[in-house]
Amino acid sequence: MIPQETVNRILDAADVVDVVGDFVTLKKRGANHMACCPFHNEKTPSFVVSQSKGIYKCFGCGKSGTAVGFIMEHESLSYTEALKYLARKYHIEVVEKEETAEEIAKKQRNESLLLVSEFAGKFFQESLKTPEGQSIGYQYFKSRGLEDETILKYGLGWAPVSRKALSDAARAAGYKEEFLTETGLSIKYDDGRLVDRFFDRVIFPIHSVSGRVIAFGGRTLKTDKSVAKYVNSPETEIYVKSRSLYGIWFAKNEISRQDKCILVEGYLDVLSMHQLGVKNVVASSGTSLTVEQIRLIRKFTNNVTIIYDGDGAGIKAALRGIGLVLKEGLNVKVVLLPEGQDPDDFARRHTLEEVQDHIARNEQDFIGFKTDLLLGEAGNDPIKRATLINDVADTIALIPDAVMRAVYVQTCAAKFDMEEQLLTDRVSRSRTQMLLSEQKERERERERAERMQAQAGDMPPMPTDIPEDIPMDMPVEPVVAAEGPVMNEPHLAPCEKELLGFILSEGCTELDFDKDSPFYVEGETINVAEFIDGILADDEADFVNLPYRKVYEEYFRMYDEGLTQEQICRRLLDNMDREISDVAKDLLIEKHALTVKNYEQSLTSISTILVMYVPKTLKTYQVKKVELYLKELTAELARTEDPDRQMEIMTRFNEYNKARARLNNELGRV
Ligand code: CTP
Ligand code: MN
Repeated sequence: MIPQETVNRILDAADVVDVVGDFVTLKKRGANHMACCPFHNEKTPSFVVSQSKGIYKCFGCGKSGTAVGFIMEHESLSYTEALKYLARKYHIEVVEKEETAEEIAKKQRNESLLLVSEFAGKFFQESLKTPEGQSIGYQYFKSRGLEDETILKYGLGWAPVSRKALSDAARAAGYKEEFLTETGLSIKYDDGRLVDRFFDRVIFPIHSVSGRVIAFGGRTLKTDKSVAKYVNSPETEIYVKSRSLYGIWFAKNEISRQDKCILVEGYLDVLSMHQLGVKNVVASSGTSLTVEQIRLIRKFTNNVTIIYDGDGAGIKAALRGIGLVLKEGLNVKVVLLPEGQDPDDFARRHTLEEVQDHIARNEQDFIGFKTDLLLGEAGNDPIKRATLINDVADTIALIPDAVMRAVYVQTCAAKFDMEEQLLTDRVSRSRTQMLLSEQKERERERERAERMQAQAGDMPPMPTDIPEDIPMDMPVEPVVAAEGPVMNEPHLAPCEKELLGFILSEGCTELDFDKDSPFYVEGETINVAEFIDGILADDEADFVNLPYRKVYEEYFRMYDEGLTQEQICRRLLDNMDREISDVAKDLLIEKHALTVKNYEQSLTSISTILVMYVPKTLKTYQVKKVELYLKELTAELARTEDPDRQMEIMTRFNEYNKARARLNNELGRV
């Protein structure tokens, strides 16, 4: 953990022109700097860096952010890694927060596990050189077409036939039994004997993304069906199967370089493809992809091509788990191989050019692939076709990017020979439902967490002002603002966004109210941020949409600490919480159309505009909130049988109605 104070020093030191300038040649143009965008191919520069605002934005591909964001994106680093990079650049010493005894112990433990694994990896490699290893293991690798270079690079090995070779060697070398059993390399019997998990097998070590050996897969050479084909390391603190990809360490640079990851099923598929020269290849090890594996890939590229055997099982495997990949925003393509061949066979039977050519020619966009496949199965059966259309619509709905979704709708509608609008509606409905149920799930999670905290004797659970039920007349599409954060209360989102926009862009501007304004106070001025906060506090109203509320709270937390407007905005843009930095980006960078700025062109001064529009937006917000309560009351009235409660609801309904009329009236006058 880097202490917050150091984080702040790094953020303050990082000069965006200086940082970006290390990677692209910037030319000064007026107040800004320009270059050809490093994130997409272009001949004329559309990449702009603003030193004063501390941000960059590409008007071609839309990528934008701060210095830290640039390093994260360009160098595929995490937030912390990017901070460390900048610290080195600016000679800022990073003394990580003192770790607790527990944390240190855990780290030492993990290091011990890694060291034992490293030892085992070397042991298996050495064993491959013994007469037994040569005549059995090495022979086998050769028979599978693997060259010495590949065997060495991937650290392939041999686990001797004797059942305790590794355990004995490791103990003799001073490794503790505890770590041998913890990594699963050794198994301790009740009678105290320590035996090996891997014996009489060829060994494929599994490397972490940073190149350390974290686990092993062992393949038997016996054809006897009673012997398991593969034995694998169990899950440990250093090896979580769902987070690892076989081959990632050897493939990651090439994946970045080619901006594409090829995904296959097994160890030998990776080895044969890599040996042939297709080096951007990893394996999911026989299971369908997990979210964590997808995120690992996404650190290096957004494009995944899945290669499977052309048989039924291969196709089914390709269809499985793909929803997840689409949902994470990756572009997925599928390549089928000739029936009965897996990538290993295919690579061994063809030259590099042939394989590359086959991929290029047969690479099919995933949704198109699925549609064609199912259309073929459905034939002219109208019921089957309807089911299929729904199925494809659900798949398209998973894609986060709205433009991509629209493109898919267009091509699929053509394939189904149906009206585009129908499919658009169907996709929108499916997406809304999906987002709502996700939102509800998150809420439930939060409540669960709060309940548990309350039970632990801490504070009582926080009251939540998010309505249990989503209003009936929810609009179909605008649950997400384009592809931004998910809004739990879309009805209020535009107002909250606008208010937040005022705060972030003009929070410290003084409001110069006229003498006859209801907000005028003799001898006192108030700035935009405090004015908005004051009015909302009077209403005891927090922002309802969680992403906006988080930004709002972060803003005022730093405001109260005495940070300047500029510092606050930078911190928000650089925030570790993606939801916060995304909202800040949206308001400060993406939206050239920021409300206030729109009026800047006109002759009226900013102050005059603020004096007019800030109170107006606040009023509109209040009206919308009242409308929301009214809707809730109506819904409750419909559900309630109890006449007393009905009366109560009616009374409150009248009060709210009056409040609405009053506010609307005032709004007319403001
Ligand atoms: N796998 C595994 N554990 C198993 C079975 C399979 O981890 N019990 C993984 C391995 O990564 C394996 C992949 O799933 O490479 C594919 O399995 P399979 O097709 O059975 O094996 P191949 O590696 O293709 O082996 P071979 O070509 O030698 O038959
Ligand atoms: Mn195989």
